[in-house]
Amino acid sequence: MIVLAFEKAELSGPADEIDRATDGAVKRAIGASRFAGRAGETLEVLAPKGVDYDRIVLLGAGPASGLAEAIEKAAAAGVRALLLSGAKSAVLRLDVDGLDAQAAARAGLGARLAAYRFDRYRTKLAADKRPSLDSLAIVTAEARAARGAWSRAEAVADGVDFARDLVSEPANVLHPEAFADRLRGLAADGLEIEVLGEKQMEKLGMNALLSVGRGSSRESQLVVMRWAGGGSAPPVAVVGKGVCFDTGGVSLKPGEGMWDMKGDMGGAAAVAGLMAALARRKAKANVIGVVGLVENMPDAEATRPGDIVTSMSGQTVEILNTDAEGRLVLCDALWYAKETFKPEALIDVATLTGAMIVTLGTELAGLFSNDDKLAGELAAAGEASQERVWRMPLGPAYDKLIDSKNADMKNIGGKAGGSITAAQFLKRFVGDTPWAHLDIAPVAWKDKSEDPREPTWATGWGVRLLDRFLADTRET
Ligand code: BES
Ligand code: MN
Ligand code: ZN
Repeated sequence: MIVLAFEKAELSGPADEIDRATDGAVKRAIGASRFAGRAGETLEVLAPKGVDYDRIVLLGAGPASGLAEAIEKAAAAGVRALLLSGAKSAVLRLDVDGLDAQAAARAGLGARLAAYRFDRYRTKLAADKRPSLDSLAIVTAEARAARGAWSRAEAVADGVDFARDLVSEPANVLHPEAFADRLRGLAADGLEIEVLGEKQMEKLGMNALLSVGRGSSRESQLVVMRWAGGGSAPPVAVVGKGVCFDTGGVSLKPGEGMWDMKGDMGGAAAVAGLMAALARRKAKANVIGVVGLVENMPDAEATRPGDIVTSMSGQTVEILNTDAEGRLVLCDALWYAKETFKPEALIDVATLTGAMIVTLGTELAGLFSNDDKLAGELAAAGEASQERVWRMPLGPAYDKLIDSKNADMKNIGGKAGGSITAAQFLKRFVGDTPWAHLDIAPVAWKDKSEDPREPTWATGWGVRLLDRFLADTRET
C-alpha cells in the first residue's frame, strides 16, 4: 500500500486513514526515522498490524502545492522502492486533493518508466535480483476520466519502452537492417512503413548518407513511418539520426568509452518510439517519421578524410572528419523529408555532438531552430513533459565556419562551438521550412541518474517531449 506524505511529513488523507487503521504505526515510523516527505523519499512499514497488506510505503511528494508536477517522479520512486522487494502487487492511493485524472495517468507513466529493465541477455540473474512487482493499481477520485487519460499515457510509455529497447540493443544485434525490421513490425499498430535500401538511395543521390555506411558490411537503410490521423492538415516530419554504431570511421575514436556508441541511434529510436505512441493512441495528427540507419566503420571501402561527396540536395561536402557522420546522415534524410512530404515543420533528433554534453551536462538537450514559434512550442512541451531543452544560438558568423576551400562546405568547424557548427550544417539543408534540431547527446543515455524514471542507461529521451508537442500544438 503506497500512500503520499507532503513536506514536513504531513500525511495525505489516505496516509492518515492508514495510520489510524494501524493504531499509529505510520506516525511512529516517521518519528523513528528522518523521513520528511521530500519529493521521492520513501519510508516503509513492514507487516503492519490492523491491515491486510504486507507493507506500507510512505511516499514523499514534496510541497502539497506542487503535487501535480511532482507526482510522476514520486510514483516512479514508489515503484523503485518495491520493484525488487518481493512484493508482487501494489496499490497507490491518489484519492487526494489536488490530483485529477491527468495526474493519475502521469503517475502511471512514472510507474511504467521506473519499471523498465533491459535484462534480455542476463541469463544468470539470481531469482532475488529479478523484479517481483508485476502490477500496480492506482486509486483515484476520477476513475472514469483517469482510464481515458491512462490509455493515452500507456501508449506513450509503450513508445518509451520501444525506444529504450532499441538504444540498449548491442550493435551486433541491432544493425541497420535489423533496426528496419523492428520498424516493419510497427505496421501492426497501423503505421505505414517504407524501407529504402542502398540501391534506392543511390538513385536518389543520397551520397552523404551513403558515405557513412561505406566501411560497413551492413547495408544502410532509410525508413519512413507514416501516421495519418490528422485529415488534410500538412504533416510534421520528424527525422532521427540512426548510427547503429559509431566507431568514428577512419577518424577512429579512442577505445575507452566507445561501447556507448551503440546508442548513437538514440535519435532514430526516439522517432520510432514517438511513431509507435502516436499510432497506439490514435493521435489526430499527420506525422512522418524518417530515420537514417547506418553503421560507421573503418575499412578499405570506408570514406577517407578529404573525400568530397555530393548530397541529395546537390550541395557538395568535404568530409574532413569521418567521425562527424551524424550530420551527413541527417542532411540527406532532412532533404528527402522536406522534398517528399512538404512538411509544415521539420524536426530532427540526434546524438550529434559530444560538445553538447560539455555545454549542458546531462540535464538538458540542446534546441536549435530557425523559427521562434516552433522553438517556443518545443520548449513549452519540454517543460510540460519534463524532458527539458535549452535554446542555443545560430547565425551567419557560425555558418561561415563550415565554408570549405574545396567544396560547398566541410563537415566540421573548428574546435570552438562544435554543437553550433553542427547545427549550422543541418540548417543548410532545410530551406525555408520551419525547422528545429534537438541535440540529445546529453540525455540519450546516462550511466547513473538520480531520477527514478530513468533506468541505468538508455532513457528513451524525446518520445515524451515530441508526443506532448504534437498533442498540445498539432492535434484538434
Ligand atoms: N556520436 C557522436 C557524438 C556523441 C559523442 C554523442 C558522445 C554522444 C556521446 C558524433 O558522431 C561525433 O563523433 N561527433 C564528434 C564531432 C567532431 C568530430 C566534430 C564529436 O562530438 O567529437
Ligand atoms: Mn561520430
Ligand atoms: Zn555519431
